Amino acid sequence: MTDTTTTAVLPASVTDLTLEEKASLTSGASFWYTKPVERAGIPSIMVTDGPHGLRKQREGGDHLGIGDSVPATCFPPAVGLGSSWDVELVQRVGEALGTETSIEKVAVLLGPGINIKRSPLCGRNFEYLSEDPIVSGVLGAALVRGIQSKGVGTSLKHFAANNQEDDRMRSSSDVDARPLREIYLRGFQRVVEDAQPWTVMCSYNRINGVYASEDPWLLTSVLRDEWGFDGVVVSDWGAVNERVPGLAAGMDLEMPSSNGVTDAQIVAAVQDGSLDESVVDAAAGRILDLVRKAQAGAGAVEGPLDVDAHHGLAREAAGRSIVLLKNDDGALPLARDARIAVLGEFAAKPRYQGAGSSMINPTRVDSALDEIRALAAGDVAYAQGFSVAPHVEPEQTASLRDEAVAAASAAEVAVVFLGLPARLESEGYDRTDIDLPAEQLALLDAVLEVNPIVVVVLSNGGVVALPFADRVPAILEGWLLGQAGGGATADVLFGVVNPSAKLTETIPRRLEDTPAFLDFPGEFSHVRYGEGLFVGYRWYDARRMDVAYPFGHGLSYTTFAYGDAAASVNADGDLEVLVAVTNTGDRAGREVVQVYTSVPEGKIHRPARELKAFASVALEPGETREVALTVRRSDLAYWDIRLDAWVVEGGEYVVDVAASSRDIRSSVTVAVDGDPIVLPLSRTSSIGEVMAHPVVGQMVQAAIAQMMGGMEGVEAIMPEGVDASKMMESFPIGRAGMFAAGDSNGAINPEMIDGLIAMANAPQQQ
Ligand code: BGC
Repeated sequence: MTDTTTTAVLPASVTDLTLEEKASLTSGASFWYTKPVERAGIPSIMVTDGPHGLRKQREGGDHLGIGDSVPATCFPPAVGLGSSWDVELVQRVGEALGTETSIEKVAVLLGPGINIKRSPLCGRNFEYLSEDPIVSGVLGAALVRGIQSKGVGTSLKHFAANNQEDDRMRSSSDVDARPLREIYLRGFQRVVEDAQPWTVMCSYNRINGVYASEDPWLLTSVLRDEWGFDGVVVSDWGAVNERVPGLAAGMDLEMPSSNGVTDAQIVAAVQDGSLDESVVDAAAGRILDLVRKAQAGAGAVEGPLDVDAHHGLAREAAGRSIVLLKNDDGALPLARDARIAVLGEFAAKPRYQGAGSSMINPTRVDSALDEIRALAAGDVAYAQGFSVAPHVEPEQTASLRDEAVAAASAAEVAVVFLGLPARLESEGYDRTDIDLPAEQLALLDAVLEVNPIVVVVLSNGGVVALPFADRVPAILEGWLLGQAGGGATADVLFGVVNPSAKLTETIPRRLEDTPAFLDFPGEFSHVRYGEGLFVGYRWYDARRMDVAYPFGHGLSYTTFAYGDAAASVNADGDLEVLVAVTNTGDRAGREVVQVYTSVPEGKIHRPARELKAFASVALEPGETREVALTVRRSDLAYWDIRLDAWVVEGGEYVVDVAASSRDIRSSVTVAVDGDPIVLPLSRTSSIGEVMAHPVVGQMVQAAIAQMMGGMEGVEAIMPEGVDASKMMESFPIGRAGMFAAGDSNGAINPEMIDGLIAMANAPQQQ
């Protein structure tokens, strides 16, 4: 195989290649390599997982992509890192990932994954950033920028609407245009436009019946024509359904290898005239560009890897990923000399990443127990408390529990590590509930009976129900934190790190409350996105439902006060939001400031409040900072299905500056000019639409008022105060024309209506 780092001079364009050579470039040579064209000096390049570390299989490994991989730093998976809401930190982690990728001579790291967490049941939620597209898009772009700054590429995945694992290779995500654009594609658009990933990975599933890997609308009209993507579209591994239509749709590189079968299909299709050769040229040309970029970037970072420095960054990132959900009476941080009982198997055997293609072989792994002992000055007892093994004898469960209860009763504080066993969440299948295992909940109950001072530390990739939340003084949501999560947990427990992470997804009270509950995972290979736009907090807020912990929530060991926010529209039409934030406590800390908007008087159906911008701000005790946040005008737009275009509705926008989606600290109103939209009129246009038309509207309003005034007997069916014209608003003008023809002595007739429509639709003089 040609070396990735070869400096061979590549052909200037694909015109120097034969049809067979061009076709051969469009599928993999093996599980992780593209094909070389040795005659033309085109080397093979290596792509590999991803996303939160490098999973590079050892030379000579298996051909299924599942064998052992070289050691690499396992950074916190997206569920953790995203909770930092910190663009700078996420970009730094991206740079470290890029460094490791470059040192290992890999051209493209297969990530980040930015699919929306539609349901907490999705088995792969640990690999995704949020239930919100702005969080996913902004942090996804930071990862791409960081990784690509080291001369290697990324693969933004899984494009698109891949929000469950169940039946993932066939299931059709049946989703309406507005949620598709405003929720499921918005983050992808952001990353593509802001950070230009070298590749985008199309997903396995179908969207509204069409495989993502062969959807010309998705891969060409939207991705390339609208968003300006100029990189390579690569298939998820095995996502190709029909290769030739896929290529024509814009799916450039099939992975892994098809053993030449699909290359031959492409050649045959060109030869029999069913596929234009220019399609093969375009795909092969883009793959050649990718190889060129990989060659230019190769060797940007020389090894050896500074394993300690990256472990240190993994610990910093993990510390910034832990969400302090609750902290009554200052239960945390722990005093160093406290007598502590550490309970629960996860303390000694951390669960720090999820199962599937993203599993990293870490350079080392810290356990929370060791790290707590390293920082503590007092006595630290440990008891396993429960077993995560699939089948445990009842006697063993009871004896593990008794041992833990004894340790808890002898301690001042019990730190109880609970979480999901690894088998419950994985790529490839979904969960069926959001409950912690019963024996863990039983252990917690038993501990609480002997010692009420309990701190719960959670290890889970997807959210879990917290039925004990009112009965314990403190809860740390530790997600999956990567290889240095144990040290980071100890840092937060003792206050070496002041927690600053916040939830990028709602923690619901019950599975039954969740937006997709009735429509997940669908059946017969179709899943209806029945909740529409109302995903995550958008749903709970619209229905005014109680939740366990809201989107955006997260506490600190210090406190923050917000001043009055100000908002204005700048020359580009963006909103500039300013707010003073003060650290009112006695420790340094970070606050994640969030900006939400709403349009209370708007005519467009939309969520009560939507996140539009955020910033993570570091503040010393007593320090005040003026925080400036920008809401892009494009992020205010809704997708107008009549025009098939983004439109900003004009009106008064309420800008909420908030510490969480349910903790609004200051609100201000700003007037936003709408995009001018003029819809062509037709006979099916409603009278309301015609009356609102800029050219003919006034004329029609006057005519209707006159007609209603002259109509005898109207009072009989219209009680006083009822606005008859309002009743008519939804009436199609064409049909009104037919109705009125008799009553108006011919003054209103179908020809007249057609004339009016023609007048409205005629090109206007400027
Ligand atoms: C996963 C991708 C991954 C690829 C290669 C697929 O099964 O969905 O996320 O990058 O395998 O391992």
